[in-house]
Amino acid sequence: MRQLHQLSVAEKLLHTGFIVLVCFGLLSAELYLYVTHTGLDGKTGVTLKDIQISYYGNRSSTKLQTVLPTMLTNAGVPKAQWPEATATFDHWIKGGETQAEYDAKIKPFVATHCLMCHSVAMSKQLHNPPLVTYDDVKAVAKIDTGMSYTTMLLTGMVHLSMLGVIFWLAGYLFVRTRISSPLKAVGVIVPFLGMLLDFSGWFLTKQNPSFAWFVLIGGALSCPIASLEMIVAFFDMWVGIPGFLRQKSA
Ligand code: HEC
Repeated sequence: MRQLHQLSVAEKLLHTGFIVLVCFGLLSAELYLYVTHTGLDGKTGVTLKDIQISYYGNRSSTKLQTVLPTMLTNAGVPKAQWPEATATFDHWIKGGETQAEYDAKIKPFVATHCLMCHSVAMSKQLHNPPLVTYDDVKAVAKIDTGMSYTTMLLTGMVHLSMLGVIFWLAGYLFVRTRISSPLKAVGVIVPFLGMLLDFSGWFLTKQNPSFAWFVLIGGALSCPIASLEMIVAFFDMWVGIPGFLRQKSA
């Protein structure tokens, strides 16, 4: 097998085009993940907690309970009445959100304090959910259980097949550099293992949030290492690599 630095200019250009495009692709994928995961826990940077909220959800509360204090302020409900209002919603949610309790307690409260902004007409203007019917209110009172399995499978299908091909090609280029054999062996397999760790981490984290580090470590080992392989291939092809990384010739 000819090595990268021995290739014709045309072949080198072909590989270079691939490397540049795919490295930017992987970089934008990482940035996309960063902006969609960062700050879910209110802190900057992607933290374990962000990953837990993405896959496991924020199960200690529902959307409705989380925003209730803000909404009571919106509605001009005096602070003295907040504990009672909060207890009314908490009791209904804990008790399984029955229609009977909705009719007796929730519906009248919402009609008095919330409907001025959450009617069907107003909700279109204010871009907030309508809270007119039992189903409307139930929809915002769901426990947040994180990403759905369907979304995970769909994302998995796209990720695993696309990254599988990219990692294979990146590994193929890396194998044809002058890097030492042990480094090559480790380098080519790590992105695949990282991706498997990441992927299994989504499902495990949905069961138990303490698996979130699978996703974090898997993510750090997959695309970044594959990019590194391609960057090394690029340098080996055009300029060469430092001696200590090279395979000692026999
Ligand atoms: C003065 C208008 C106003 C009143 C009164 C009001 N809301 Fe809202 N509500 C909004 C607006 C605007 C939004 C969308 C922006 C936001 O999330 O702050 C919203 C959003 C929401 C959401 C969705 C939050 C999300 O992030 O998906 C819920 C749930 C909610 N309100 C419940 C209530 C309840 C319950 C009441 C009555 C106690 C109430 N609101 C009273 C204006 C109001």
